[in-house]
Amino acid sequence: MNNFLRGFGLLVAVASVVACGRSVVVDPATRDAGARVYRSESCAGCHGEERGGGRLAPPLRSLARHWDEEELVRFLRDPTAFAADDGRIREMAARFPSKMPPAGTSDPEKLRALAHFLLAD
Ligand code: HEC
Repeated sequence: MNNFLRGFGLLVAVASVVACGRSVVVDPATRDAGARVYRSESCAGCHGEERGGGRLAPPLRSLARHWDEEELVRFLRDPTAFAADDGRIREMAARFPSKMPPAGTSDPEKLRALAHFLLAD
C-alpha cells in the first residue's frame, strides 16, 4: 500500500469513529418541538426539568450511546416491553419505586420530536 492509500484509510477510520460518537444530526426546530412535548407529557415530574434524574427516575443524558430515534420511540410507547428483553433497562427499572409509564401521547410526530430532543442532548 502506498502512503496515499494508507493516509486515506486512516482518514476513513477517524471519520467513522467521529460519526459513531455523534450519530445524531440535530434539527433545532424538531428538538424544540420535542422539548415542548417533554414538558406537556410530564416527563420532568420524574426525570427533572433539566433531565438530571432523581429519586423517581434516571438522568436522561448521552442517550445516543444506547438508542437510535426509532428504537427510542418504541420504548416511549411501551417501556415495559423493553424491560422484558433488555438487561440494562431491567436493572435500571429495579432501582426506582415505580416503572416508567408509556408516553401519554401516541401521536407519531410528537413521539419522534420527543426522541429527537432526548438524543440531541
Ligand atoms: C413515574 C416516573 C416516570 C415518568 C413520568 C417518566 N419516566 Fe422515564 N423512566 C422512569 C424510570 C423508573 C425509568 C427506568 C427504566 C424503566 O422503568 O423502564 C425510566 C427510563 C427512561 C428512559 C431510558 C433511559 C436510558 O438510560 O436509556 C428514557 C429515555 C425515559 N425514561 C424517557 C421518559 C420520557 C420522554 C418521559 C415522558 C414521556 C418519561 N420518561 C416519563 C420513570 C419515569
